[in-house]
Amino acid sequence: MSAAPVSIAVFEFLDSTHQEIQQQLKLLHTLVDAIENEGLNTANRGTARRVLDYFNGEARQHHLDEEKHIFPALLASQNAEVVQATEHLIQDHGWLEENWIQIAPSLEAATGGNLWFDTAELRHALGVFEALYLDHILLEESVAYPEARKRLEGLNTLGMGREMARRRALRSDEVRARA
Ligand SMILES: [Fe+2]
Ligand SMILES: [Fe+2]
Repeated sequence: MSAAPVSIAVFEFLDSTHQEIQQQLKLLHTLVDAIENEGLNTANRGTARRVLDYFNGEARQHHLDEEKHIFPALLASQNAEVVQATEHLIQDHGWLEENWIQIAPSLEAATGGNLWFDTAELRHALGVFEALYLDHILLEESVAYPEARKRLEGLNTLGMGREMARRRALRSDEVRARA
Protein backbone atom coordinates (compact mmCIF):
# COMPACT_ATOMS: atom_id res chain seq x y z
CA MET A 1 0.00 0.00 0.00
CA SER A 2 1.36 3.49 -0.78
CA ALA A 3 1.93 6.01 2.01
CA ALA A 4 -0.80 8.52 1.17
CA PRO A 5 -3.86 6.27 1.49
CA VAL A 6 -2.65 5.13 4.92
CA SER A 7 -2.40 8.69 6.24
CA ILE A 8 -5.83 9.44 4.77
CA ALA A 9 -7.19 6.40 6.62
CA VAL A 10 -5.79 7.69 9.93
CA PHE A 11 -7.47 11.07 9.47
CA GLU A 12 -10.71 9.45 8.33
CA PHE A 13 -10.61 7.42 11.51
CA LEU A 14 -9.97 10.50 13.70
CA ASP A 15 -12.79 12.40 11.94
CA SER A 16 -15.21 9.50 12.36
CA THR A 17 -14.34 9.34 16.07
CA HIS A 18 -15.34 13.02 16.37
CA GLN A 19 -18.71 12.10 14.84
CA GLU A 20 -19.08 9.26 17.32
CA ILE A 21 -18.20 11.48 20.30
CA GLN A 22 -20.92 13.94 19.24
CA GLN A 23 -23.44 11.09 18.91
CA GLN A 24 -22.53 9.80 22.37
CA LEU A 25 -22.98 13.31 23.84
CA LYS A 26 -26.48 13.44 22.29
CA LEU A 27 -27.22 9.98 23.64
CA LEU A 28 -26.17 11.15 27.10
CA HIS A 29 -28.68 14.03 26.91
CA THR A 30 -31.42 11.63 25.80
CA LEU A 31 -30.49 9.34 28.67
CA VAL A 32 -30.76 12.08 31.32
CA ASP A 33 -34.24 12.98 29.94
CA ALA A 34 -35.26 9.33 29.94
CA ILE A 35 -34.05 8.79 33.52
CA GLU A 36 -36.07 11.81 34.65
CA ASN A 37 -39.19 10.58 32.84
CA GLU A 38 -38.97 6.83 33.29
CA GLY A 39 -36.49 6.18 36.08
CA LEU A 40 -33.84 3.48 35.83
CA ASN A 41 -35.53 0.83 33.72
CA THR A 42 -33.53 -1.88 31.94
CA ALA A 43 -33.17 0.14 28.74
CA ASN A 44 -31.86 3.22 30.55
CA ARG A 45 -29.43 1.16 32.59
CA GLY A 46 -28.13 -0.44 29.38
CA THR A 47 -27.68 2.97 27.72
CA ALA A 48 -25.81 4.25 30.79
CA ARG A 49 -23.43 1.27 30.50
CA ARG A 50 -22.80 1.88 26.79
CA VAL A 51 -22.11 5.61 27.22
CA LEU A 52 -19.91 4.96 30.25
CA ASP A 53 -17.88 2.36 28.33
CA TYR A 54 -17.54 4.70 25.36
CA PHE A 55 -16.11 7.67 27.27
CA ASN A 56 -13.97 5.46 29.54
CA GLY A 57 -12.64 3.61 26.52
CA GLU A 58 -12.70 4.92 22.98
CA ALA A 59 -12.85 8.64 23.88
CA ARG A 60 -9.74 8.30 26.07
CA GLN A 61 -8.00 6.27 23.35
CA HIS A 62 -8.80 9.07 20.90
CA HIS A 63 -7.11 11.62 23.17
CA LEU A 64 -4.05 9.35 23.33
CA ASP A 65 -4.06 8.99 19.51
CA GLU A 66 -3.81 12.76 19.25
CA GLU A 67 -1.28 13.18 22.06
CA LYS A 68 1.01 10.51 20.62
CA HIS A 69 0.66 11.05 16.89
CA ILE A 70 -0.82 14.46 16.06
CA PHE A 71 0.19 17.00 18.68
CA PRO A 72 3.99 16.40 18.88
CA ALA A 73 4.51 17.44 15.23
CA LEU A 74 2.39 20.54 15.77
CA LEU A 75 4.30 21.58 18.89
CA ALA A 76 7.46 21.59 16.73
CA SER A 77 5.84 24.00 14.25
CA GLN A 78 7.42 27.38 13.50
CA ASN A 79 3.94 28.89 13.47
CA ALA A 80 3.23 30.34 16.95
CA GLU A 81 -0.53 30.18 16.38
CA VAL A 82 -0.37 26.43 15.72
CA VAL A 83 1.80 25.84 18.81
CA GLN A 84 -0.57 27.89 20.97
CA ALA A 85 -3.65 26.08 19.64
CA THR A 86 -1.96 22.72 20.33
CA GLU A 87 -1.09 23.69 23.90
CA HIS A 88 -4.70 24.73 24.36
CA LEU A 89 -5.91 21.37 23.00
CA ILE A 90 -3.61 19.42 25.34
CA GLN A 91 -4.93 21.43 28.30
CA ASP A 92 -8.49 20.72 27.14
CA HIS A 93 -7.85 16.97 27.37
CA GLY A 94 -7.08 17.49 31.05
CA TRP A 95 -10.25 19.54 31.59
CA LEU A 96 -12.35 17.01 29.68
CA GLU A 97 -11.00 14.25 31.91
CA GLU A 98 -11.88 16.30 35.00
CA ASN A 99 -15.40 16.93 33.69
CA TRP A 100 -15.82 13.27 32.82
CA ILE A 101 -14.83 12.05 36.28
CA GLN A 102 -17.61 14.24 37.68
CA ILE A 103 -20.15 12.57 35.38
CA ALA A 104 -18.96 8.94 35.42
CA PRO A 105 -19.92 8.02 39.04
CA SER A 106 -23.58 8.97 38.39
CA LEU A 107 -23.66 6.80 35.28
CA GLU A 108 -21.94 3.97 37.12
CA ALA A 109 -24.68 4.20 39.78
CA ALA A 110 -27.34 4.26 37.05
CA THR A 111 -26.04 1.01 35.53
CA GLY A 112 -26.60 -0.64 38.91
CA GLY A 113 -30.10 0.83 39.27
CA ASN A 114 -29.06 3.33 41.95
CA LEU A 115 -30.66 6.72 41.57
CA TRP A 116 -28.70 8.49 44.34
CA PHE A 117 -27.55 11.27 42.06
CA ASP A 118 -29.34 14.50 41.20
CA THR A 119 -30.34 14.53 37.51
CA ALA A 120 -30.30 18.37 37.45
CA GLU A 121 -26.66 18.32 38.59
CA LEU A 122 -25.86 15.62 36.05
CA ARG A 123 -27.49 17.72 33.32
CA HIS A 124 -25.42 20.73 34.36
CA ALA A 125 -22.15 18.74 34.35
CA LEU A 126 -23.07 17.31 30.97
CA GLY A 127 -23.66 20.84 29.60
CA VAL A 128 -20.14 21.89 30.68
CA PHE A 129 -18.60 18.68 29.26
CA GLU A 130 -20.44 19.00 25.96
CA ALA A 131 -19.63 22.71 25.43
CA LEU A 132 -15.93 22.07 26.03
CA TYR A 133 -15.90 18.98 23.78
CA LEU A 134 -17.63 20.77 20.89
CA ASP A 135 -15.25 23.77 21.07
CA HIS A 136 -12.33 21.36 21.29
CA ILE A 137 -13.41 19.36 18.23
CA LEU A 138 -13.94 22.60 16.30
CA LEU A 139 -10.40 23.80 17.07
CA GLU A 140 -8.95 20.41 16.12
CA GLU A 141 -10.82 20.25 12.84
CA SER A 142 -10.11 23.87 11.87
CA VAL A 143 -6.45 24.18 12.96
CA ALA A 144 -4.80 21.01 14.26
CA TYR A 145 -5.94 18.36 11.78
CA PRO A 146 -5.39 20.44 8.60
CA GLU A 147 -1.89 21.34 9.83
CA ALA A 148 -1.11 17.74 10.82
CA ARG A 149 -2.40 16.49 7.45
CA LYS A 150 0.07 18.81 5.70
CA ARG A 151 2.92 17.61 7.89
CA LEU A 152 2.11 13.92 7.53
CA GLU A 153 1.41 14.08 3.81
CA GLY A 154 3.65 11.68 1.96
CA LEU A 155 4.85 10.06 5.17
CA ASN A 156 4.06 6.48 5.89
CA THR A 157 1.76 6.47 8.90
CA LEU A 158 1.48 2.71 9.04
CA GLY A 159 3.35 2.62 12.39
CA MET A 160 0.88 5.17 13.74
CA GLY A 161 -2.11 3.06 12.77
CA ARG A 162 -0.45 -0.06 14.17
CA GLU A 163 0.24 1.58 17.54
CA MET A 164 -3.37 2.78 17.71
CA ALA A 165 -4.69 -0.72 17.00
CA ARG A 166 -2.23 -2.41 19.39
CA ARG A 167 -3.12 -0.05 22.26
CA ARG A 168 -6.83 -0.80 21.77
CA ALA A 169 -6.21 -4.55 21.66
CA LEU A 170 -4.21 -4.34 24.90
CA ARG A 171 -7.00 -2.39 26.56
CA SER A 172 -9.64 -4.94 25.49
CA ASP A 173 -7.48 -7.69 27.02
CA GLU A 174 -7.25 -5.72 30.28
CA VAL A 175 -11.01 -5.08 30.35
CA ARG A 176 -11.69 -8.79 29.69
CA ALA A 177 -9.22 -9.82 32.43
CA ARG A 178 -11.01 -7.55 34.94
CA ALA A 179 -14.48 -8.86 33.98
FE1 LIG B 1 -8.54 16.16 21.32
FE1 LIG C 1 -10.17 14.90 18.80
